[in-house]
Amino acid sequence: MKSLLEIENIEKKYLTDSQKEVVAIKDLSLSIPKNKLSILLGETGCGKTSLLNIIAGLDSDFKGNIISNYGNLNIAFVFQHYTLFPWRNVINNIAFSLEIAGVKKSKRLKEAAELAKKVGLQGFEKNYPHELSGGMRQRVAIAQSLAKKPDLLLLDEPFGALDNITRTALQNMLIDVMQTEDITIIMITHNIEEGILLGDKIFILKSRPSKIIANYAVSMEYPRDKKSEDFVQIFKKISQALSTRVTDFMMRPF
Ligand SMILES: Nc1ncnc2c1ncn2[C@@H]1O[C@H](COP(=O)(O)OP(=O)(O)OP(=O)(O)O)[C@@H](O)[C@H]1O
Ligand SMILES: [Mg+2]
Repeated sequence: MKSLLEIENIEKKYLTDSQKEVVAIKDLSLSIPKNKLSILLGETGCGKTSLLNIIAGLDSDFKGNIISNYGNLNIAFVFQHYTLFPWRNVINNIAFSLEIAGVKKSKRLKEAAELAKKVGLQGFEKNYPHELSGGMRQRVAIAQSLAKKPDLLLLDEPFGALDNITRTALQNMLIDVMQTEDITIIMITHNIEEGILLGDKIFILKSRPSKIIANYAVSMEYPRDKKSEDFVQIFKKISQALSTRVTDFMMRPF
């Protein structure tokens, strides 16, 4: 199957308030496989959000090319600091994009209720965001983005702020979404374990300027066993890649 996106030679510069130029991304190329979950993994400040903004079309001030092999894509984005509409309850938050698209009320409420169930929010449909836990709010944000029936879902550290139990539940929810929807996902994390639990493909980014220094294809079945030999091996490789200086790493075969 053809890749969904070819991302070629991206260069992104920022100008700080004091007019200093920051090269956030340079010579970054990668290919996003269709109907798979790709992970972008790298330390803080290495340009992950900048890259996602570019892929989403939210930032057009960059050099390089983003080529879709499947025409115009319907893209949904769950932001690192996501926000829900505080005055809308769970169902009406989830149904937001359907409402904007002019979908009839009965139909959009039905679809939103199905999505609420899919992400494990049954019983909380009428709650308002301030009546939900952080994990529940994150579920709403994901259901809200799924309501758009996106070809491509971009997730910027969606589970970063959650406790381990909630995090595991949401990771499983995402695996379920991956397996039941016709969807491609790109997800940012700086948690190696999470990357291996979820990713079909893991891209390792190194900072300043950001580039891809390695990528791994993970073919283990879901749910993945953290204690399995394959898991431990790939964990070691990624930890090594992340802790090695770019120049050293590139000279070393692996
Ligand atoms: N608007 C901006 N103006 C100037 N510099 C910026 C701006 N946005 C990002 N940068 C710089 O670009 C680099 C990449 O930032 P980015 O937010 O993409 O990193 P990140 O990998 O998402 O980090 P984190 O894991 O902390 O979210 C950083 O060095 C950051 O300081
Ligand atoms: Mg970020």
